[in-house]
Order: sequence, then structure tokens, then C-alpha cells
Amino acid sequence: MASPLPIITSGSGTPLLLIHGFPHDHTLWTPQLRDLAGDAWVIAPDLRGSGGAKDPAPVQTMALHVQDLIGVLDHLGVEQAVICGLSMGGYIALALLKAHPNRVKGLILCNTRAGADDDKAKEGREATAKKALTEGVAVIADEMIGKMVAPNASPTLRTTVRDLMARQSPSGVAASARGMASREDQREFLPTITVPTLIITGSADTLIPPSESEAMHRAIPNSKLVVIPEVAHLSNQEAPVDFNREVSAFLKAL
Ligand code: MLT
Repeated sequence: MASPLPIITSGSGTPLLLIHGFPHDHTLWTPQLRDLAGDAWVIAPDLRGSGGAKDPAPVQTMALHVQDLIGVLDHLGVEQAVICGLSMGGYIALALLKAHPNRVKGLILCNTRAGADDDKAKEGREATAKKALTEGVAVIADEMIGKMVAPNASPTLRTTVRDLMARQSPSGVAASARGMASREDQREFLPTITVPTLIITGSADTLIPPSESEAMHRAIPNSKLVVIPEVAHLSNQEAPVDFNREVSAFLKAL
């Protein structure tokens, strides 16, 4: 079968499915595609509506993303993968584990949370969706860049991340924002998780504060929590050496 999503892969070994956040694409994972290839078969798709993946549903729900990602695993002949998601990718990773536990060998949750949006957050999502459609995504990229990376991030990284966000399509951004607003609260699911779980965040993440990761760590049996100092929302890009070391050790221990 054809892959439902464009995918970039590197390396060989344990399949490691990397799920990007919002409003990102697979290039979020450039440091992992480059540096984890010796440890894993790294698989980085563009989620529908992001990067080169066209035709999002009007509301790209977590369930629709999960369906696409299972299609990617089927296309590659992967029975079980380590599922790693950052932020929105973490929301999707939890939904994938809940719906398809037999496809998951390990779970890595980065800069994410288990709860759903409250009414105020849902209003914010709708405002983001409308702004993307009427004013374009560059405006959103300019608004979000200050929360994506820490103030001490290099100008090069800042520009790379801002451009990564700005080149996403308005319809894809709107669909993803509306999809996140519709997601389920997964907090009651956490204590039932039995796969090995690594939780990574940055001490300076203001978009999803480290307290959310601490709460997931308390709720998920036998999980490990890593808080990388002076790093904000994109821990995999801001501190790739620390991030990759933790992921590599997690993969080796599986
Ligand atoms: C992300 O980085 O995926 C988003 O900022 C998550 C969110 O807005 O909830």
C-alpha cells in the first residue's frame, strides 16, 4: 500500500516514529534524523495539512492523525514502533497508544500534556484558525516564536523555527488548531499505560509548563522524567545532544 503521508527516514534498527507539533512539519526532527540514525530506524512523517501532506479534513482530529500514522507503519511493514511525539505530537501519541496498544513498543512524550483544552483555550484555537485563514501563517509564526525557543536560543535556530512555522499552509494550520481543540482528555488513561515511557521537557517551557510533564510522570507507572535546563518548548531542537542521549539510552534499555 502507498504511504498516506510523506515520510523521511534514516538509519536502521528499532522503528522510532517521530510525530511533530503545531505548526510544524517533519523538519522539526532534523537533529534526530541526523544523529539517531545509528540507534534506530528513524521515521518522520509530515502530518496531514503540514509540510508536504495535503488535503487536511476541516477538523484534523487526533483520530484522523492516528489513522494516517497507522497507515505509515503498515506501509513500512512495521508491526511495533517506539512512538515519540512533541507537543501536539504528544497528544497524537497518547491517542495512538490508546487506540492501538499492540503497535507501540515504547512511548516518548516531549513538551506535552495529557489534558484537553478548556473553553478559553478552545476560543484561542478558533481565533488562531481564523487568523491563519485571513492573515496568513507568517503572523502566527511571529507570534509563536517567542514561546517555541528560549530567549537564549541562537539567532540561527530562531530563524529556522520561525521559517518552519511560517511556511505551513493556512488551511492546514486551521485544521490542526481545530483538531487540537476537539481532543480528548487523556489524564485517566495515563495510569493504565504499561509500555516503557520517557517524558522530556524544558525547564523554560512556558507554552506547556514542566508541571504538566511532572503530572504525567506521577500518573504513568515506571515512567522516567527528564527536564532539560534553560530550554523552552522545542527541547529536541534547543538541546539536541541532551535530548538524543536520553532517547538513545531509552531505546537501548527497551
Ligand atoms: C505544539 O507545539 O504542538 C502546540 O503549541 C501545542 C498546543 O498549542 O497545544
